[in-house]
Amino acid sequence: MSKHVFETLLLEVDEEGLAVITINRPQKLNALNSQVLSELEDVVHEINDREDIFAAILTGSGEKAFVAGADIAELQDLNAPRGTVAAERGQEVFALIENSTKPFIAAVNGYALGGGCELAMSAHIRIAGEKAVFGLPELSLGLIPGYGGTQRLSRLVGKGRALEFILTGAQIKAEQALAIGLVNKVVAVGEEVKASKEMLKVITTKAPLAVKNAIKAIQASELDKESGYRAEAELFGNLCATEDFTEGTTAFLEKRKPNFTGR
Ligand code: COA
Repeated sequence: MSKHVFETLLLEVDEEGLAVITINRPQKLNALNSQVLSELEDVVHEINDREDIFAAILTGSGEKAFVAGADIAELQDLNAPRGTVAAERGQEVFALIENSTKPFIAAVNGYALGGGCELAMSAHIRIAGEKAVFGLPELSLGLIPGYGGTQRLSRLVGKGRALEFILTGAQIKAEQALAIGLVNKVVAVGEEVKASKEMLKVITTKAPLAVKNAIKAIQASELDKESGYRAEAELFGNLCATEDFTEGTTAFLEKRKPNFTGR
């Protein structure tokens, strides 16, 4: 049972602890208005808090769009100070996703434009349907990406490609997004959530605390170089004190599958 009641999202949790969050404004191509952002914030907190949830998938309702961007009708009312606050708000919600230690996969089932592309980039992994379209068209609206897109895109695809993508506003298909490293995998239309669950099921076979610490350590690579290596060493050390570390190494030496308990 969901702790919150959502109007713009659907939350389903299966018996294996995989949550599917569906952004559900298909008539507006799932555009992110302030209500969607608030509900996304609540749902990520719920996922982080619930012990019966191991990982989450983000997807969009309908066949056309993952998320077609921030809600342009709401953007229109922004001035300079409100614009900064709005960008910080989007950044805050997307950082919550990125900083979750439960794996998040964006199952990109259609247009992922503007804030939708930025939302997909805040997930740990992206799996796209072959008709998905990615783009950051903000410059055509007289803006720049403001929900972390200028930062995350550079890290994912490199500065040169990020500059080309943002400055031209090019819209690219899933295969091209795969070629530049913007997505991890391309699957047939309609298979995005299923393929995400398959990948998460592989992750569920790993030691749970090691999954969390791997996410934290990779996140720390975005700190300065010294702090990133220090965080990696500390997180590695923490794991050496866990029962699952003893179990994993013992199972290997005994040539059997490990039986992880998350302790
Ligand atoms: N914000 C608000 N409403 C949006 C939206 C957005 N980002 N994207 C789509 N919509 C709305 C449309 O206004 C339309 O609403 P209406 O039926 O009440 O007129 C509805 O969703 C369907 O969109 P429509 O443009 O008719 O669909 P399409 O198939 O012709 O085009 C897109 C699809 C994605 C190419 C087009 O909707 C688009 O370019 N959207 C904006 C993308 C964008 O610039 N995003 C960045 C925002 S920062």
